[in-house]
Amino acid sequence: MMKTVLLTIASEKKNKMDEFLRQLRNDHRQFDQGKLEDHLGREPMKLFSQWLQDAVEKPVSEPNAMSISTLGADDFPQSRVVYLKELLEEGLVFYTNYNSDKGKALIAHPKAHALFFWPDLERQISVFGVVEKVPEQMSDDYFASRPRGSQLGAWASHQSDRLESRDELEERIEELIERFPEKVPRPPHWGGFLLRPVKIEFWQGRPSRLHDRIVFEKTNDSWTLYRKNP
Ligand SMILES: Cc1cc2nc3c(=O)[nH]c(=O)nc-3n(C[C@H](O)[C@H](O)[C@H](O)COP(=O)(O)O)c2cc1C
Repeated sequence: MMKTVLLTIASEKKNKMDEFLRQLRNDHRQFDQGKLEDHLGREPMKLFSQWLQDAVEKPVSEPNAMSISTLGADDFPQSRVVYLKELLEEGLVFYTNYNSDKGKALIAHPKAHALFFWPDLERQISVFGVVEKVPEQMSDDYFASRPRGSQLGAWASHQSDRLESRDELEERIEELIERFPEKVPRPPHWGGFLLRPVKIEFWQGRPSRLHDRIVFEKTNDSWTLYRKNP
């Protein structure tokens, strides 16, 4: 696929593209943000929270954006970005539409992979986990804290379904403004998922591509830790 695209672009453009990719390859990052040992403890969720805080303080753009990959009924993995809204001792919470593609995939196959990448910190966190819906009250509380526009949007968007036109969506919003003149209740199909980690890998860039990779794996409710080759 990639090859076909490159072959069909005009040769002058192709040369520029080749040069651009070559520069990218030669842009050897120094990966000098410190050793992973500097931050290591025995509790991965504490380290997680420390790294998230570092990302917020750096500051990096969208520090709580993570990609969530699910396995669909068609056996294809699918990834998309969502916001991490709560980091609990038990795991990672994000909110979405339970009827969306990711919602359906997670309900049918409650395992997921989450990935954070903070380029400015040369860090990546990879999380394998088991997923469950958060308690209704937790979704209610979070929904109530959202701006009215987002609350109406959660009703209006039949997330992941085909949409014939933008007008259709906007008409739905107009109807909802009348239907909910004051408080907007949480739609029953909208709420949080908790990703309970079973394996977490912390990746810290290091010089000469000899990066640190430390994996925490949960067995019998306790974490064991090992290193992986970069
Ligand atoms: C930065 C960013 C943050 C996002 N946050 C969320 C989110 O918290 N919840 C959500 O449902 N979709 C979020 N989205 C949209 C999703 O990436 C995705 O398009 C949508 O959830 C539909 O995914 P699905 O069809 O695979 O279920 C976000 C997108 C971006 C780019």
